[in-house]
Amino acid sequence: MDKLTYAGSLERLKAVKGKYKFYKADICDEKKMKLIFKKEKPKFVVHFAAETHVDRSIHNATPFMQTNIKGTQILLDICREAGIEKFIHISTDEIYGEIQNGKFHETSPLNPNSPYSVSKAAADMLVRAYHRTYGLPVVIVRPCNNYGMWQYPEKLIPVAILKALKNEKIPVYGKGLNVREWLFVSDCAEVLHQILENGKVGEIYNIGSGDEKENIKVVKQILDILGKPQNLIEFVKDRPGHDLRYSLNTRKIEKEISWKAKEKFVSGLKKTIKWYISHREWMLNIHRIK
Ligand SMILES: NC(=O)c1ccc[n+]([C@@H]2O[C@H](COP(=O)([O-])OP(=O)(O)OC[C@H]3O[C@@H](n4cnc5c(N)ncnc54)[C@H](O)[C@@H]3O)[C@@H](O)[C@H]2O)c1
Repeated sequence: MDKLTYAGSLERLKAVKGKYKFYKADICDEKKMKLIFKKEKPKFVVHFAAETHVDRSIHNATPFMQTNIKGTQILLDICREAGIEKFIHISTDEIYGEIQNGKFHETSPLNPNSPYSVSKAAADMLVRAYHRTYGLPVVIVRPCNNYGMWQYPEKLIPVAILKALKNEKIPVYGKGLNVREWLFVSDCAEVLHQILENGKVGEIYNIGSGDEKENIKVVKQILDILGKPQNLIEFVKDRPGHDLRYSLNTRKIEKEISWKAKEKFVSGLKKTIKWYISHREWMLNIHRIK
């Protein structure tokens, strides 16, 4: 199920044509969701649906509160009623806030700083509460920044690739010193599948790669791979409330699920760039529509 907002596209599912059933639905539409659950009787629910772009949340927080909090609550109630066997909630590392040194553990306090991360922290806590209060069989997953194919070109890596391919200036916030931990999308998909099968109900898992990079280094690396000049970089006024650094301790997922990210950043980035070059039309179309 997907509302198909500006960020959603069925084109991404071409590779699995004929292997899935799709409903266009808003998780906030309780009536429609109930009908779908009644018809499909799902055993498992993996909850990805969200408004996700921090900049958009700074501009207008309303859809973030609506989908990420209210939508999650509606979904949780429906899952409770339907008696599902497992609810995997996709949370995020951003709910911990920033950390100068060291790493966040699953037990670290939540200190979200943007409207986006606040809405995700609220959803994360709702999910936890539904486990404690109603015994809903939930698992919470907190991944770091994903990158890879099909990512909507508003996030740092696809924006930088798109601008560089068009020889346009690449906006970088502040001095580009903010550090993010980068996880290749297929590593994330793999661990989510393993968590669906073996994740312990009631548990929280951090999902990180250990690949931490300053934003400026990420953009420079993209320019190097594409053979483009560094003067395409344009430093712009910093994002309000911009978290300096995220970093996750992943010992729990490594120990309990025996999972570790496989893809190294430079090789994942090269694969991503190659993919965007071969899907240039898709990317440019999105920008034409916008
Ligand atoms: N991308 C990352 O780096 C990252 C990192 C950690 C966690 N997450 C989390 O993973 C999930 C997916 O992120 P993404 O990057 O793929 O986001 P995205 O913005 O690219 O896609 C979000 C999807 O949710 C759908 N959606 C939005 N509102 C909806 C609603 N009300 N009802 C039904 N569908 C709705 C959109 O149509 C879209 O298909 C989110 O919960 C996000 O918070 C993402």
